[in-house]
Amino acid sequence: MKYQIIIYLFLLLSVNDLTAQSKSEPFEGVPGWLETQEKRLAWFQEARFGVFIHWGLYSAAGGVFKGETYPQHYAEWIQTWGKIPSKQYTEHLKPKFTLQDFDPKQWARLVRKSGAKYMVLTSRHHEGFSLFNSDQPFALHNEVTGTANLSPDGRDLYREIMEAFQQEGLKTGAYYSLLDWQHPDSYEAFQLNPNPTGHVPDHERYKDYMYGQIKELANNYDALDVLWADFSSKEHEGESWGTKRILTDLIKWQPNILINNRFWNGLENKNGDIGTPEKYVPPTGISGTNWEVNHTMNESYGYSAHDQNWKSFPQIMRLLVETVSKGGNFLLNVGPDGNGKIPDQAVEILERVGKWMSVNGESIYGTQASPFRKLDWGYCTIKGDKLYLHVFDIPQGNVINVPLKNAVKSLYEMDSKDGSMDVVPQEMGLGISVPTFSLEDGPKVLVMEVEGALEVEESVAQALSDGRIVLSADNADIHTTHGMKISGARHDFKRPNALAGWTHTDDKVSWRVKIQRPGRYDVLIQHLPLSTTGGTVVFHTDAGKVTYSFEGKEGKSFEEVKMGTIEIPQKAIGEPFISFVLEATTIDGNGLPEISAVSLVPTEN
Ligand code: GLC
Repeated sequence: MKYQIIIYLFLLLSVNDLTAQSKSEPFEGVPGWLETQEKRLAWFQEARFGVFIHWGLYSAAGGVFKGETYPQHYAEWIQTWGKIPSKQYTEHLKPKFTLQDFDPKQWARLVRKSGAKYMVLTSRHHEGFSLFNSDQPFALHNEVTGTANLSPDGRDLYREIMEAFQQEGLKTGAYYSLLDWQHPDSYEAFQLNPNPTGHVPDHERYKDYMYGQIKELANNYDALDVLWADFSSKEHEGESWGTKRILTDLIKWQPNILINNRFWNGLENKNGDIGTPEKYVPPTGISGTNWEVNHTMNESYGYSAHDQNWKSFPQIMRLLVETVSKGGNFLLNVGPDGNGKIPDQAVEILERVGKWMSVNGESIYGTQASPFRKLDWGYCTIKGDKLYLHVFDIPQGNVINVPLKNAVKSLYEMDSKDGSMDVVPQEMGLGISVPTFSLEDGPKVLVMEVEGALEVEESVAQALSDGRIVLSADNADIHTTHGMKISGARHDFKRPNALAGWTHTDDKVSWRVKIQRPGRYDVLIQHLPLSTTGGTVVFHTDAGKVTYSFEGKEGKSFEEVKMGTIEIPQKAIGEPFISFVLEATTIDGNGLPEISAVSLVPTEN
């Protein structure tokens, strides 16, 4: 129960406040930041792909402490999951932080070969232990743990790692935790530690400590390309951390530095240089700011021996390409263990990404967001006159629809430069026949140049190779005056995007569909059952309609239920598209349940 409460609080802090807007002025009004922002961001916008490294004492626990396994995601939080005082934590874990397999040059080579152009390393996480050698008196010696510095005598692990990456030509950034579970003057002081003397935390001292450590990171090492602060809440943001003083000096110490937005509250707040969606891709990107999705290969950022829920290589590629196609950067996390070994599964993923990037990198680096709202076969990125079409799902007939009015000037396969693909005439947009490929090698990239300025058409959904037509939330035209919107995947990357906030019967959604096969289709509606929601929906087209009433039951995940069967007549084939509409006739409770898709599945007869 306790864990649940903690997880809940944590999710509340870090997720539900996504779009919270901080009251602070941009960069706290500190001169030097806004004026130089465009120039400072240039390399970041070119890079598009980076690697995050979570490494600290929690890596030596790997999700297990003194024989007890902590099933929670976010293994780097184990100290909190287990309510472990800092002293016991360090005594137990330091001997397990052996460095036996630690080879920063090998890490750096692996990451460079993955195609990543930058790396962000946890210089210290919430546990309060630093990979860098801090000269702050508390870090050198304290009553709580002895020392907050992790490196063995005569070494500086942070320096060794950063230098190895810099030698491979990568930009390097430091993740720096604003939370500190160890320091007696932090906002979290004594949440985990005893306080026998009744010490009253002095936050001014903690601010000095953070300022001093950030000064060390910015001045004692060759480069600091990003300062990745983590994280704020409504109660503690901006000036609570002494941000004004930090920013005033940081830009002098490192005039080209970028900072993320987590000195302020909310993952999508627009302060700082970089928005930081965590473990989800914002369904429609984030307008008006630069942003970077940080995502995990399994569930946890820090190493966890029992977290074997690894994403497949194609799933990682989807997250990477989807993010870039929406205008963001992708920061893919790796969690080496306490011996310094990167898990084999992570090595394999990075190697496979690297193989794909070595051929297709041009379709990622320096590209911009797709001009199309949604494509049902994959994603598009753009650079100069070129459109990069990333095909993930091959539609029926192997022909993808590119919703453009323009004529094609050139078209070739990225991996072979073969330009022999057919452009198939279609009533709406361009039809392109895609050569067969295996998604196990990553998405197929086609490069297209068209005549004149881009003229985008409304996109039209078509059947997948099994004949099923999926009308997804992403692909819907939303007609709302009451704030219906697409909600995103959040902490479960398999959670589909869904229509949320459907509270009024005069709101509706519609889709345009190119029919390739007339006949009978079962209509299935995928939704997230919730007892506080309910209502009746009608799905209709000229050919007929089906209805469904949500019972307001409770469910854990999205479910598909059958609404009925619909007959699509022969004459529909002749139409450039037909429209389907989903409307609500009644709405109960807090609104309709979230709806992720309506699928039309051809029946046998
Ligand atoms: C979170 C977590 C943390 C993780 C990070 C990555 O706020 O507290 O464990 O390092 O953000 O986005």
